[in-house]
Amino acid sequence: MVDLLDLQKSFILAHLHAGDTAVDFTMGNGNDTEFLSKTVGSEGRVYAFDIQEDALTSTKKRLTENGAPENYTLICDSHHNVKKYVSEPIKAGMFNLGYLPGSGRKHITTMRETTMPAVEAALDLLSDDGILLVAVYPGHEEGDLEGKMLADYFATLDRRRVCASVFRILNSPTSPYFYIVEKR
Ligand SMILES: C[S@@+](CC[C@H](N)C(=O)[O-])C[C@H]1O[C@@H](n2cnc3c(N)ncnc32)[C@H](O)[C@@H]1O
Repeated sequence: MVDLLDLQKSFILAHLHAGDTAVDFTMGNGNDTEFLSKTVGSEGRVYAFDIQEDALTSTKKRLTENGAPENYTLICDSHHNVKKYVSEPIKAGMFNLGYLPGSGRKHITTMRETTMPAVEAALDLLSDDGILLVAVYPGHEEGDLEGKMLADYFATLDRRRVCASVFRILNSPTSPYFYIVEKR
């Protein structure tokens, strides 16, 4: 059976290596930040964004308890401001859209107005052979609309510059799915 999380990691690992720079655009409880931090190792760099202080607290705890190298910068700001903090090219960017799991605050979710400029900024920062992965949760209205907006946008990208794909379980339409954009 397809395991979407394993599949996401395998795509990232085809591009991201020790010493690289990566960005987690939606830190949440830090699962992806930990994965990115351990993948790039002590010579690499990870920037992680969230608009909720709780996310930084739980991510810091996770990274410390699970022995991640101290190669990360946790930033409490919206991901569409990424260029204020990151100026070097990035090899991988991950978005896991939606709300903070376990917080009960489902109203604090990623929104189209900021997701779109954040994805555009991520593509600007992406280095050659880099990958952007955007996971979408279509089970709530804003998530569904974010997914449709991104499909329209990714379809316009120049095929000579990037390859944009989508991975979706067709017989489970409300399950999460994800886009990848790979730069040549
Ligand atoms: C589905 S969770 C991410 C899960 C996370 N990757 C993990 O491994 O636990 C989505 C997160 O995006 C955050 N978020 C919402 N709007 C944001 C924004 N404009 N900029 C950065 N993070 C945002 C939410 O606070 C929430 O923690």
